[in-house]
Amino acid sequence: MATMRSITSSSCAKTDSGKKKEEVKKTAPKKTSKKWKKRGEKEELPEGYYYQQLHDNGPKILFGPPPKASVQIWKPRPNNIEKVFPGDEIIVSKTDARGNITYGNSLFIKMAGYTEEELLGQPHNIIRHPDMPKLIFKALWDTVTQGKEINAYVINLAKDGGYYWVFANVTPSFDKDNNIIGYHSTRRKPNSRALEIIKPFYQTLKQAEAIGGVHESTKELVKLLESQGMSYDQLILHLQYNL
Ligand SMILES: Cc1cc2nc3c(=O)[nH]c(=O)nc-3n(C[C@H](O)[C@H](O)[C@H](O)COP(=O)(O)O)c2cc1C
Repeated sequence: MATMRSITSSSCAKTDSGKKKEEVKKTAPKKTSKKWKKRGEKEELPEGYYYQQLHDNGPKILFGPPPKASVQIWKPRPNNIEKVFPGDEIIVSKTDARGNITYGNSLFIKMAGYTEEELLGQPHNIIRHPDMPKLIFKALWDTVTQGKEINAYVINLAKDGGYYWVFANVTPSFDKDNNIIGYHSTRRKPNSRALEIIKPFYQTLKQAEAIGGVHESTKELVKLLESQGMSYDQLILHLQYNL
């Protein structure tokens, strides 16, 4: 994976031939050298990238090694180039109960811009766009872990730095004993008139988030819902289908 790297794995040199071992010995500074990276120190990012922590949404592990999925990757900085979402198709992905991707249809893979191998097993925040307010994902997880479905407008970041807006419906999947075994997201092309409202509103949520975190952005959402006299679900469905 060209742009996805674990900070730890990338510092390991390949030593599969004697010649390479020689080269490594010559170039690697001694452990005592000041040049030697401290444990956990970040390697230099290529221009146009930023670090993002990839983590799944499983229970927090207090002891023992971190979850396998908790790694940092290089993410491209958003380049403001919109990727066209064909209106007559749907983007589908499935995750396990911790939010790690287990399936993506061909359009999901195409829009995300990663290969299927790069996506499968990764936490779904691999395509997180920095413009998305935390509150929307909190609402998403709070809802689906209670066994309910949620609709949300989401802007996603593709591997090449491009973006695409979706209208997502996220639902839990159950086993025969009604236990949640994973989640399923079906995304349709968003109503463009709805996006004219959602885009500035998400900016308001992000500004509130910067001041006082999700606590503050929640106040903005409540204010909007009260002014419209609607629940979150009612508002989102109204924006998508009645505007
Ligand atoms: C089925 C399913 C689909 C999801 N789809 C997306 C998605 O398309 N884009 C996205 O950014 N997050 C998606 N999420 C939410 C991510 O798991 C994660 O909460 C989000 O990206 C926020 O990441 P963060 O915790 O790093 O801020 C999805 C979650 C589930 C369960």
